[in-house]
Amino acid sequence: MSNQDMDTQLASIQEEFKVKSSEVKSITDVDAINDYFFNRKKGKLTNVLRGLKSIKDPAEKKNLGKLANETKIEILAKLDKLALEYKSTTAKMSNFDVTLPGKTPSLGRIHPLRQVQEELVDIFYSMGFSVHEGNELENELYCFEYLNIPATHPARDLQDTFYVKKYQNSDIEEVLRTHTSNMQVRIMEQQKPPLRIVVPGRVFRNEAIDASHEHTFYQMEGFVVDEDVSISNLTYVLKEAMSKILQQSVQIRLRPGYFPYVEPGFEADCSCVNCDGKGCKTCKYTGWVEMLGCGMIHPKVFESAGYEAGKYTGFAFGIGINRLAMLKYGIPDIREFMKGDLRFLDQF
Ligand code: DAH
Repeated sequence: MSNQDMDTQLASIQEEFKVKSSEVKSITDVDAINDYFFNRKKGKLTNVLRGLKSIKDPAEKKNLGKLANETKIEILAKLDKLALEYKSTTAKMSNFDVTLPGKTPSLGRIHPLRQVQEELVDIFYSMGFSVHEGNELENELYCFEYLNIPATHPARDLQDTFYVKKYQNSDIEEVLRTHTSNMQVRIMEQQKPPLRIVVPGRVFRNEAIDASHEHTFYQMEGFVVDEDVSISNLTYVLKEAMSKILQQSVQIRLRPGYFPYVEPGFEADCSCVNCDGKGCKTCKYTGWVEMLGCGMIHPKVFESAGYEAGKYTGFAFGIGINRLAMLKYGIPDIREFMKGDLRFLDQF
């Protein structure tokens, strides 16, 4: 093959490729073109490239070699592009089953504890309460001292409370709050009665974990302070709130309970929503489920807040949100909330 021949051959290869590639209809056509030009034995371009070896003049050889190589690169690039195009359309077409139902993207959900908390907030808001957030890191004055919880009280033991460090280099300890009651005196210091407040939030206890105990859980503190607040106001508010959140009319029963910041203090039970008070496993066959602690605010608490002695009365309560969610949804184990198991969370 003369050098002149090689030149024209390359030109005709380019021409031929142009025609052939414009006629491609499928990936098989692309493969055929590839074979036509690049077959190792009889490919048209393979032959031309092989012919380069026989050119004697080095300058000529360089020139033609360059041209042949450029042609090769150009054709290969175009073939690649065509292959990609036809492969993906055939792949798309062959896998596309129009009768298949669409894929539903999995959506995030609001955690059941948050749902119950938000519902409670709405209920209390509708009864004229305002909502406050509070500190999770607290000093022992607001968490204990101002609430009439003496240093000897078991709640202040290391085994019940996470102590963090000394408060601002003083003798006062900082703790992870053990209850949302820490916000009572903080809010009373800032606002004067009449007060109707709820404080939802996270609390921490240094205790062993089992099906009914967690180290981290959620509460909602509530309190009302005015000049003539009575226990019947307390029971009315609790009955309304519990009936709304549990979506049926419930009864409230108060039993004596000891909390240093209320006098009298009560454990409030709610008639069992599972059996309507008749007795079942949920209520341990008593017809009642223990719901929350509450009572009439102790004068010492008003004193801590700097309120005039004897002027105000009020009630306070602390709802365990985890416990309420367990009752509402029939969840047997408190640990489910923190596991992060999507199969559990997807149910709400
Ligand atoms: N702080 C209590 C607890 O964590 C709940 C509680 C009881 C709150 C009585 C109150 C109350 O406001 O009056 O178990």
